[in-house]
Amino acid sequence: MTISTTTPERVVIVGGGSGMGLALAAALVADGAEVTIAGRSAERLATAGRALADGPGTVRTAVADITREADLERLFADLGPVDHVVATAADATGAYQPVAAFEADLARSLISAKLIGPTLLAKHARFVSGGSLTFTSGIAAYRPAPGGAMVAAVNGALASLGYALAIELGPVRVNVISPGWVDTPIWDTIAGPAKIERHRQLATRLPVGRIGRPDDIAHAMLALMRNPFITGTVLHVDGGHRLV
Ligand SMILES: NC(=O)c1ccc[n+]([C@@H]2O[C@H](COP(=O)([O-])OP(=O)(O)OC[C@H]3O[C@@H](n4cnc5c(N)ncnc54)[C@H](OP(=O)(O)O)[C@@H]3O)[C@@H](O)[C@H]2O)c1
Repeated sequence: MTISTTTPERVVIVGGGSGMGLALAAALVADGAEVTIAGRSAERLATAGRALADGPGTVRTAVADITREADLERLFADLGPVDHVVATAADATGAYQPVAAFEADLARSLISAKLIGPTLLAKHARFVSGGSLTFTSGIAAYRPAPGGAMVAAVNGALASLGYALAIELGPVRVNVISPGWVDTPIWDTIAGPAKIERHRQLATRLPVGRIGRPDDIAHAMLALMRNPFITGTVLHVDGGHRLV
């Protein structure tokens, strides 16, 4: 008798306590993966962990701030080598600011979470064969709005970071996903109560006729993670936003 054993995928999602990271965690857990979701809020992670508890995969939570190198060092020392690492961490607080009122410290926080943090992940993560890193940029790089200069710059830089690390870290694959507007909790910070109207207006302009859902991004991330021939790629999942 042959007993076939397959090792479950081991995946770390920094930012996995909500939004598209949580949708990715749910898809992976449904596939039987061992998923670690990390973020700053233990409460948010616990809520997400309970939502994912029904398996068939497993979920663990880890309080870690992507801007703190010691947190990431500890995270990967605890976990050992993994198959895939995904960064969806971002905090939009203070991210949008007109240049006339530019505050450098707010910009530094944004750069720290979206650009330096993923670079620290690349430094500390350890991968099994076939491993991948996926970063999350965004449509703001390609359709910038007034007040969004730093968001555009950081998202644009993530593409270059992905190209460079794909060369430096190969055979580990490094890719970047660029979402359009997706209805996640980050919008409560970006737009507050104006969110619904802003989403409605954009939906009428997009070729697909709707705003993105976290699952749209999660499924595209799975493709980047699992296809062994994709590296150094920016995948746009934006409902055609770059065309309008
Ligand atoms: N939603 C959109 O329309 C859109 C469009 C383009 C690009 N994006 C990008 O997509 C990514 C995912 O965003 P989302 O829409 O899914 O938003 P979200 O639901 O707010 O998810 C962001 C997650 O990141 C975590 N986080 C924030 N700062 C962190 C830090 N310093 N260290 C570790 N975790 C941190 C947050 O949890 P804690 O607060 O507990 O840490 C939160 O769970 C972000 O990079 C965002 O910029 C989003």
